[in-house]
Amino acid sequence: MANEIISEQVASWEEMMLLYNSALKKMQTKLEILNDEFQHVHQYNPLEYVKTRVKTPDSIAKKLKRHGKEITMENMVDCINDIAGMRIVCSFTTDIYRIADMIGRQNDITVISVKDYIRNPKPSGYKSYHMIVTIPVFLSDKTEQVKVEIQIRTMAMDFWASLEHKIFYKFEGDAPDYISSDLRDCSEIVSMLDDKMRQLNEAIQEAKTKQEEG
Ligand code: GTP
Ligand code: MG
Repeated sequence: MANEIISEQVASWEEMMLLYNSALKKMQTKLEILNDEFQHVHQYNPLEYVKTRVKTPDSIAKKLKRHGKEITMENMVDCINDIAGMRIVCSFTTDIYRIADMIGRQNDITVISVKDYIRNPKPSGYKSYHMIVTIPVFLSDKTEQVKVEIQIRTMAMDFWASLEHKIFYKFEGDAPDYISSDLRDCSEIVSMLDDKMRQLNEAIQEAKTKQEEG
């Protein structure tokens, strides 16, 4: 009897993971298409790279515990928005909003929530554009709406976030004040760099257009 229950649980866990993985595959294809179309229309690729990951069982359990929830399949689906995660890294800040807009306009995607940590950075200095969306996954006998967390950021924001993440873990979330303060300064520098790069890119595009016209 106990064995039967366990094998049932394993089967539904595996089905769940299959759903999240399939959702990420669909999202990945969508982004490739958007990138190709963008290349066709604007003659450049807005995407530097796209990474996907499915949260590990261990980190799903830890997150549920942190939220004071029992570790059940139902709580997992309802409470954890980032089991399937996608990180989109762009060249320029303007691309972030274009990509987010293009994702939001896809007929089969439902945007559940948006957090704009670029216009409203976190106290840590963290900047990124976050979306929680659902995308339908068609199985042989049913359709499931699957949640995906999308983080969109520039390469400079990504550089900052990955360094800050490492430091956060090194100090177990309790970094000395001067380090947190230096990180916030770096986050300002990231914004300045992103802004300069965007202006430079616009100047290049303008010069190219003039050259083509003249
Ligand atoms: P989580 O419980 O961490 O998922 O946070 P949340 O549900 O409040 O969502 P939020 O949008 O704040 O953060 C989601 C994800 O963004 C995190 O899991 C990280 O990947 C990233 N993130 C948020 N804040 C920071 C930060 O200060 N530094 C770094 N490096 N990453 C962050
Ligand atoms: Mg998370």
